[in-house]
Amino acid sequence: MSQPVTFAICGCGARGLEAYAPYQERHPDEMKVVAGADIRPERLAMLRERYGVPPERCFASGAELLAQPRLADVMIVATQDRQHVSDALAALDKGYHVLLEKPISPNLEECRALQKKAHETGKVVVVCHVLRYTRFYSVLEELLRQGEIGKLETIDAIEHVAYWHQAHSFVRGNWRNDLETSPMILQKSCHDMDILRWLAGEPCLKVQSFGALDYFTAENAPDGAALRCLDGCKCKDDCPYDAEKIYITDPRTGVHGGGKGWPCGVLVSDPTEEKLREALRTGPYGRCVFHCDNNVVDHQTVNLEFASHIHATFTMTAFTQSCHRTIKVTGTLGEIEGDMAENTLHLRRFGRPERIIDLREEGGQYSGHGGGDFGLISSFCKLIADGGSRGLTDVDASVESHVMALAAEASRLVGGKTITLADF
Ligand SMILES: NC(=O)c1ccc[n+]([C@@H]2O[C@H](COP(=O)([O-])OP(=O)(O)OC[C@H]3O[C@@H](n4cnc5c(N)ncnc54)[C@H](O)[C@@H]3O)[C@@H](O)[C@H]2O)c1
Repeated sequence: MSQPVTFAICGCGARGLEAYAPYQERHPDEMKVVAGADIRPERLAMLRERYGVPPERCFASGAELLAQPRLADVMIVATQDRQHVSDALAALDKGYHVLLEKPISPNLEECRALQKKAHETGKVVVVCHVLRYTRFYSVLEELLRQGEIGKLETIDAIEHVAYWHQAHSFVRGNWRNDLETSPMILQKSCHDMDILRWLAGEPCLKVQSFGALDYFTAENAPDGAALRCLDGCKCKDDCPYDAEKIYITDPRTGVHGGGKGWPCGVLVSDPTEEKLREALRTGPYGRCVFHCDNNVVDHQTVNLEFASHIHATFTMTAFTQSCHRTIKVTGTLGEIEGDMAENTLHLRRFGRPERIIDLREEGGQYSGHGGGDFGLISSFCKLIADGGSRGLTDVDASVESHVMALAAEASRLVGGKTITLADF
């Protein structure tokens, strides 16, 4: 590539600044961040310090940035769920290509309005379904397309959210309440709907779903639970959801384990124990998980039917030790089983020895989401530099999986009724 693709970032939060922009540090010939906006001054300071964006190109809101003439080739829209469509429509009107964080919107009309605008302007709109850009799912998809297991018949996928991740994001944090953001099946699992659609290789016809917010409710608060973990809670010792464990002492997630980035970095910038304790005493992340204003489900299952008798099941559950995904696909001539945490696929063609495909040995060096974050931005830079028009996860593909997720939610809300997508 001769010139790097230039980017303006609308919403310099965890995703905007930390998921894709670091790619520039390794590949300055492919990507350059030249402008950005955020309502939090400390995030703009990070934008200036980390990426050398001059102060006159750092704006105090997306609206201010979008009021300027076009400043870059691409706008990354990484604001919160319900801001995405208005920011992306304005960016398209200004002539930007758009890299849009998921979900597009919890409102299907808005998703379709963006799709229409993308077609009208002829600009690229890629939605950040990062899983498709991992070695794990792309090798699996390739095996299916090559017919390694014959005709695909079933897919069973599980999203293991992890108890601490659920508590952080979906009980105490940003995505706890679907009236402010999106229902869980869209917010967290639109990626999974997208992967199921991609692996099936054909449209989804029907969905049906069950699920509930069963555990993180006031009725389940144990005797002696305080409203805040640091306010003399008598249940702390036995509670895995204790905020002090998650953000301070747990070596995997807390600052004692060196955790400076996500999730501690969501509470305070440059996390230290002292700063985190203050945030836990006063902010949302120190609240008892049984005493929050959350309403999104803690587990949900979906049954899906695809066009040529391919059937799939999907389970999302909060109640797992670690945060990863597993999948099993079966076909007329074999099966494949995979665990994204191990990054291996087990290919078993009937009557033949098992082949273990160890993707860690195939040069995988991972950014977030099993390498998907950098996989996506790398592919996106190439697409724009080459003047391409269709990304792997462009808005058309993404709207399809949004329809699946929103139909699943509609089904769940009426007790599991089967919904035909053509009528939805
Ligand atoms: N692709 C993925 O796998 C993935 C993973 C996590 C989150 N997400 C999505 O990314 C989006 C952002 O999530 P996040 O974790 O970065 O959240 P975040 O809260 O860290 O970032 C959002 C940023 O937008 C800023 N903002 C708010 N209003 C603004 C405005 N008017 N103008 C400019 N900036 C404004 C906030 O100050 C914040 O810094 C969400 O929609 C989320 O669903 C995607």
